[in-house]
Amino acid sequence: MTAHPHPTRRAVLSSAGIAAITLCLGGCGSAGPDAAGSAGPATVPASEIPIGGGRIVGRFVVTQPTKGTFEAFSYLCTHQNLPVQQVTDAAIVCGRHGSSFSLADGSVLTGPATKPLTKATVTANGDTLTIS
Ligand code: FES
Repeated sequence: MTAHPHPTRRAVLSSAGIAAITLCLGGCGSAGPDAAGSAGPATVPASEIPIGGGRIVGRFVVTQPTKGTFEAFSYLCTHQNLPVQQVTDAAIVCGRHGSSFSLADGSVLTGPATKPLTKATVTANGDTLTIS
């Protein structure tokens, strides 16, 4: 007889909130294929990749070591599995501990990393590059 309706209503509302969050985690995470941290393939216009340089696109690094040749790698540094931060005209750079990697093949230029970046696949369709 002393049961209060509010805890039950709160519990129901709380469950609904959790359900909404769960649904969003399952279906609301696609802010676009280029969104940083998004899983799955990423796309970028080839014209946005500098010749002799590159760009971080989503979870990938895309480079154009020579005109018209595109390479892609996972953006995770092989030293401690943290994202690299920069692509210069000389290297893919992880500033965490100073590792750098080749634009052409992801091989280690300077440590402490000892393994190359994991290669990804680039597919060109017109001016659009899809990296997976
Ligand atoms: S995590 Fe990249 S150099 Fe250490």
